[in-house]
Amino acid sequence: MPMSKAACLRILITAGPTREHIDPVRYLSNESSGKMGFALAQAAARRGHDVRLVHGPVSLVAPAGVATTSVLSAAQMLQACQRLWPRCDALIMAAAVADYAPVTTHRYKLKKHSTHLMLKLSPTVDILATLASRRRPGQVVMGFALENRRARHYAADKLRRKRLDAIALNRPDALGAAESEIELLISGAGWQCLPRSPKRVQATRLVKAIEALWEQRR
Ligand code: CTP
Repeated sequence: MPMSKAACLRILITAGPTREHIDPVRYLSNESSGKMGFALAQAAARRGHDVRLVHGPVSLVAPAGVATTSVLSAAQMLQACQRLWPRCDALIMAAAVADYAPVTTHRYKLKKHSTHLMLKLSPTVDILATLASRRRPGQVVMGFALENRRARHYAADKLRRKRLDAIALNRPDALGAAESEIELLISGAGWQCLPRSPKRVQATRLVKAIEALWEQRR
């Protein structure tokens, strides 16, 4: 059921991988399909929110009524998000941003040689931490964590370091899958388990958590 007009939030959602080019035909990226971010955008739109979806390269169709911006690299995703963030009430950072980018992107396709090829990489900007540190009072920020060991420990650490209101923890088996199991940590509260369910069900649960956080922070 759509929410009342007064509770309609403007929610910025990111989805999918980013791609960092080595040369015109090769790049660094990851296995993210974008399904979770797109499911979040659909769930938020269905609940009556005004959704801005910034996504990396994915083969998914944007949900009806959702304004989308398509980007490739982490730097482009940051730029698109920085433009939208000041006028949003909440951010859900579901994108799997590539952590490193080649220091040099070659203009021409690299030729093969018989010796080793060394790639020099530098860290990409942390979009989530950047946006969280530049928020005005009341803006709510949810991040994601993908961990395969000491999962709760690392996720809780990310929540603190990046100054988040909530973090959704999932495991590598969620990548590309239709279902996921999520553990949700809300700042100042504890962990909640969102049992294994289709991503569209998990997405609705996470959007409801954003709504509750926004109400509390008002
Ligand atoms: N994130 C981001 N910008 C980056 C890297 C990550 O905004 N350059 C965001 C992701 O969208 C996610 C959260 O930070 O919401 C956690 O991402 P993750 O890759 O799990 O964590 P990292 O901080 O990159 O740490 P690590 O890879 O060491 O676990």
